[in-house]
Amino acid sequence: MELREALRTTAAIREFDGAPVDRTTIYDLLDTARFAPSGGNRQCWRVVVVEDTAKRRALRDAYLPGWYEYLALSRAGLVPFAVVTDRDKERAALTDASAMAERARESGGGFAEHLDEVPALLVVLADLRGVAAMDRDDGTKTFVGGASVYPFAWSILLAARDVGLGGVLTTMVRRRDAEVRAIVGCEPYFEVACVIALGWPSARPTSLTRGAVETFATIDTLDGAPLVH
Ligand SMILES: Cc1cc2nc3c(=O)[nH]c(=O)nc-3n(C[C@H](O)[C@H](O)[C@H](O)COP(=O)(O)O)c2cc1C
Repeated sequence: MELREALRTTAAIREFDGAPVDRTTIYDLLDTARFAPSGGNRQCWRVVVVEDTAKRRALRDAYLPGWYEYLALSRAGLVPFAVVTDRDKERAALTDASAMAERARESGGGFAEHLDEVPALLVVLADLRGVAAMDRDDGTKTFVGGASVYPFAWSILLAARDVGLGGVLTTMVRRRDAEVRAIVGCEPYFEVACVIALGWPSARPTSLTRGAVETFATIDTLDGAPLVH
């Protein structure tokens, strides 16, 4: 598939036709994604392909609390888990999370509740011993560090697209980080970057909703003239 077309049309896919994705296929995706860039070319990524039923269910269970919190925050008109936000409003909104869980149980649930049934589940980790992060000493968690692993994760999804697979990069499990670490058995110097769900799409969106360049690119300063064509 032509690169420009792939970049403009690779949507998040959360519904699959149920057909399995075999290890050889996953190997081939990773064999392409491994050419992604990383700081100092350290290639600090690690991937755990989660096949075991109990582990898959545990991953789903680690995903769900964050998902219900996400729904409750959205419902309250907040940007869920925004780094800069009104924490008091968040706290108030989060009291609705259990109602969200209840509603999902009644409706049979969707992607989140059935995460364990997704054809392929990949936990992508970053080995912090190989992550060169220029903001390491800023006194907060590194923001830059993720840039050494998320391009790799996105390359998995682009490679998947190329062979007709679809999927989605998810980070919801980070609300239950300790549980995920226990599931995949990782040392403290590994960071859980994301869980990628993959499968053969039951449908593909034909166009993506994204802001035009003029809405996010400016000249010289952030409030400068918009970059126009
Ligand atoms: C850093 C990051 C975290 C994400 N986390 C989740 C997630 O936890 N669950 C989920 O269903 N989708 C997740 N997504 C997928 C986004 O919701 C999706 O890319 C976005 O809504 C655009 O969707 P579209 O490409 O179908 O338009 C995440 C995407 C990124 C880049």
